[in-house]
Amino acid sequence: MNKLNDKDLAIKPRRMQFATNSMKMDRFAIKNNSLISTFFYALSGMFPDGERFFIHSVRHYQKSITDKKMIAEIRGFIGQEAHHGRCHEELNSEISKLGIPMDLVIDNMASRIEMLESSFGPERQLALTVAMEHFTASLAEFILKNPNILDDTPDAFRQMLLWHAVEEIEHKSVAFDVFNQKVGDEWMRRRVMVIAMITLFSRIAYFQLRMLIKTKHLPSWKEWKQASQFFWGKKGILRANFYGVKKFFKRGFHPSDIDQVALINNWEARFPDVAAQET
Ligand SMILES: [Fe+2]
Ligand SMILES: [Fe+2]
Repeated sequence: MNKLNDKDLAIKPRRMQFATNSMKMDRFAIKNNSLISTFFYALSGMFPDGERFFIHSVRHYQKSITDKKMIAEIRGFIGQEAHHGRCHEELNSEISKLGIPMDLVIDNMASRIEMLESSFGPERQLALTVAMEHFTASLAEFILKNPNILDDTPDAFRQMLLWHAVEEIEHKSVAFDVFNQKVGDEWMRRRVMVIAMITLFSRIAYFQLRMLIKTKHLPSWKEWKQASQFFWGKKGILRANFYGVKKFFKRGFHPSDIDQVALINNWEARFPDVAAQET
């Protein structure tokens, strides 16, 4: 079986520059559907502080790692996540201009992370990162398998999500390997995933609700129908994600058990307009 992070799949932070400020964007930019759009807005709002937290949780163990390959992978992971956060900040400020209360998401995340860092030990912080990294890699897999779901999304937004998806798959094992080596508590890993998914989805739903209230938008029946298909239909993004997250609970699971190499091999040829944003 192909293994991720072979030397031909090095974790490479790419400097990207997306044309977010010249992007033409409707208030509900994805499929003109408020429920689908606010889902991605909530995620985007959570990314910058969330990804800084991931870096923080891995950095805690960085100095005690001696394996050269792992040291290089951690560096790649930190470089990628730091850049994701910065790009999503630019996107978030564009989304704010549409009257979407992104500040609310950002402030809420900042206080949540402050609480996590002060009340969780480093092991649990890392376990949370491991859980979230698996969630994002599963979401990334769906997006890269079904890039057409973003066909009518503004270019810079779509390009950012595709690039982010590629790098999430590239570095999906890093926090996991650090956790395995430094903590190695299978029960904690699985327990924290349950808590992480419950809090993540309740937060996303809360942010979506606040966005709809602030914009005084009541989703139509047509939007509900389209969104339920989009999220939970036969080829729904959250349905696929549910099955992806389920794999995490297998005893002895490792992220490289899920072969996603084909999705990121030659991604530049599959998405040339995304690759063209690298500076
Ligand atoms: Fe990321
Ligand atoms: Fe990540």
